[in-house]
Amino acid sequence: MSASTALGRGDLPDAWDSGDAAGIDPEHDRRVEELKPAGAGVAAFYDRAARGIAGAPDLAELKERHTRLLGRERGIVTGRLAGLPELSPEERRQSGRALNLIKRWLTELEAARRSALEREQESRSAQGLDVTLPGRKPWIGHRHVLAQIQEELLDLFHGLGYSVYVSPEVESDDYNFGKLNFPPDHPARDAHDTYWVDGGLLLRTHTSPGWVRAMEERQPPLRLVFPGRVFRAEQVDASHMDQFHQVDGLFVDRDVSMADLKATLNTFARSIYGRAVRTRLVPVYFPFVEPGAQLDVACVICDGSGRVRDARCPVCKGGGWIELLGAGMVHPNVFRAVGYDPEAVTGFAFGMGLERIAMMRWGIPEIRLFLENDLRFLNQF
Ligand code: PHE
Repeated sequence: MSASTALGRGDLPDAWDSGDAAGIDPEHDRRVEELKPAGAGVAAFYDRAARGIAGAPDLAELKERHTRLLGRERGIVTGRLAGLPELSPEERRQSGRALNLIKRWLTELEAARRSALEREQESRSAQGLDVTLPGRKPWIGHRHVLAQIQEELLDLFHGLGYSVYVSPEVESDDYNFGKLNFPPDHPARDAHDTYWVDGGLLLRTHTSPGWVRAMEERQPPLRLVFPGRVFRAEQVDASHMDQFHQVDGLFVDRDVSMADLKATLNTFARSIYGRAVRTRLVPVYFPFVEPGAQLDVACVICDGSGRVRDARCPVCKGGGWIELLGAGMVHPNVFRAVGYDPEAVTGFAFGMGLERIAMMRWGIPEIRLFLENDLRFLNQF
């Protein structure tokens, strides 16, 4: 190798030797050997250059060292490559091959070292704790609007002495209908549009089957509420879903009267809609109560007038009253079905739909919103 292309260890700082070239290039020793025929100095130069790249402590220093070796203007290897044409053909062949190998291998080493340093930097900044940054707010959910209403109702009835009784969503015909005094072919069954399950079972159409289970298990006096999901094979529209939620109530003791029922329902209505709310009980037929009634409240939107700004009230449809729940005195046949003596005990029961209560209270026009899990809706409650 002539003077213009000669290379040696002394062309680079001693300190570069501390880098571990074999650590990032398993081929390192073999490559040094491969360069030896071109001259011991060339091989030693490459060894130190490779160690310098491998041992570059940070990205800035790596760039510095890379420029020193392969920089376009002043890179040592670049300069030697530029001097090749001055050499004799024999020298040019040998030095040219060595210099091109050195250039290729150093380029590879530089890329490997650079990505290692970048990875280090990333993980350092991921682990580092910058105490001046604002804290990351954890995402906190909250209870579904129906769960909130249910909790509010259970809380209210808890204050009136009621305990919670939970009964199955999949029921037998007997508990959902038979023991609740629905005759086998009574049209009242059709009104419930039942989802049937294999084996004579069904998805409960109301939470009232819970009364039967509770009364079969326990003796009076009873004061219970029955929350839960119910199912009806309804045509789905803005005010009908094929699943919704109810809370039933049952009070059985000696000498329970209709007056007790009225007082309880008025307490409930005032707690939900405010002290000023007006109510009325209207006779209605249900197979499991006698007499049966529905509780209406004066429409909270139009205050019972049926009109809003010279137009028909959209919520009560002009009637001025809204049907809130079904209620009545427990039918003697229901007591007989569970083994109670209807001459000895009396009781009242009521059942309300949670979606309806929520829709009325907040003016929610669309029952499907409760099941869609759209946060824009849910976050409003
Ligand atoms: N279970 C009835 C229904 O789902 C509601 C009701 C309960 C009516 C208790 C009267 C007494 O429609």
